[in-house]
Amino acid sequence: MGASRGLGLALAEQWARDGRQVVATVRGSGRSRLHDLADAHAGTVEIESVDITDPSTITALDARLADRKFDLLFVNAGVTNEPEGTVAETSTEEFTRVMVTNALGPLRVIETLSEHVEPGGTIGIMSSGQGSVTNNVRGGHEVYRGSKAALNTFMRSYAARHEGERRTLVLMAPGWVRTEMGGPDARLSIEDSIPNLVKTLDALRGAPGLHYVDYLGRTVPW
Ligand SMILES: NC(=O)c1ccc[n+]([C@@H]2O[C@H](COP(=O)([O-])OP(=O)(O)OC[C@H]3O[C@@H](n4cnc5c(N)ncnc54)[C@H](OP(=O)(O)O)[C@@H]3O)[C@@H](O)[C@H]2O)c1
Repeated sequence: MGASRGLGLALAEQWARDGRQVVATVRGSGRSRLHDLADAHAGTVEIESVDITDPSTITALDARLADRKFDLLFVNAGVTNEPEGTVAETSTEEFTRVMVTNALGPLRVIETLSEHVEPGGTIGIMSSGQGSVTNNVRGGHEVYRGSKAALNTFMRSYAARHEGERRTLVLMAPGWVRTEMGGPDARLSIEDSIPNLVKTLDALRGAPGLHYVDYLGRTVPW
C-alpha cells in the first residue's frame, strides 16, 4: 500500500523479482513508476488505487478484492510535515495531515483488509526508528516522531485485541534511507535496506504477535 515511489516501489520490485504475485497501490489515476514495473511484470504486478486518508477508497478496494487471500499485507504509505518545526509551531492542518496519514490511515487499512490475509499470514506496517519513545533522547522531527509513536501504540492495541491469533504483526523500521523523504544524506541506499527488510519479514513469518523490528531484524525498544 503506497508503492508509487521510494521504499514502497522498491518492495514491489523486490517481490516481483522473487516471483510473488503483487497487488500494489498508488494514489489517484496518474501514471507512476509502479506502472513501468507492472508493464515489465505483466500478470504478476497488479495496480490498485487507494488514498489511505480516504476511507471510501479502502472499502472500494476491499470490495474489488472480493474473496482473494494474501500471505502478506504491507502498509508502506507515509508522509512527514513541511516545514519542519516543533509540534506547537505546526499548523493544525499539517499536524492533522501527518497524523491521519501515518497513524489513522494504516489502522483503517488493516481493519478493513485483514480478512484478505491468510490466518497464518503477516500484516506489516512501515513504522520508523523515530517511533521509539525510548530512543527519543535527541528530539527533532517532532510531529513525524509523534505520528509513528501513535501508530506503534495503535498497533499494540490492535495486537492486544487479536491476542491468540496466528498472524504475524510487524512494525518495521527500514533505517534512514535515501528516498524523497529520507533525503540525499541518508545513511542507507534502497539496496542496503529493502532486500534485508524482505528477508526480515520472511524470517518472522509464522511467529505470531507484534514485532517492532528494524530492517536487519533487530528488535527496536518501544
Ligand atoms: N526514507 C526513510 O529514511 C524512512 C525512514 C523511516 C521510515 N520511513 C517510512 O517508510 C515509508 C516510505 O517512505 P519513503 O522514504 O519511501 O517516502 P517517499 O519516497 O516520500 O514515498 C512515500 C510513499 O507514500 C505514498 N503516500 C503518501 N501519502 C499517501 C496516502 N495518503 N495514500 C496512499 N499513499 C500515500 C506516496 O505516494 P504518492 O506518490 O502518491 O505521494 C509514496 O508512494 C513511510 O511510511 C516513511 O515514514 C522512511
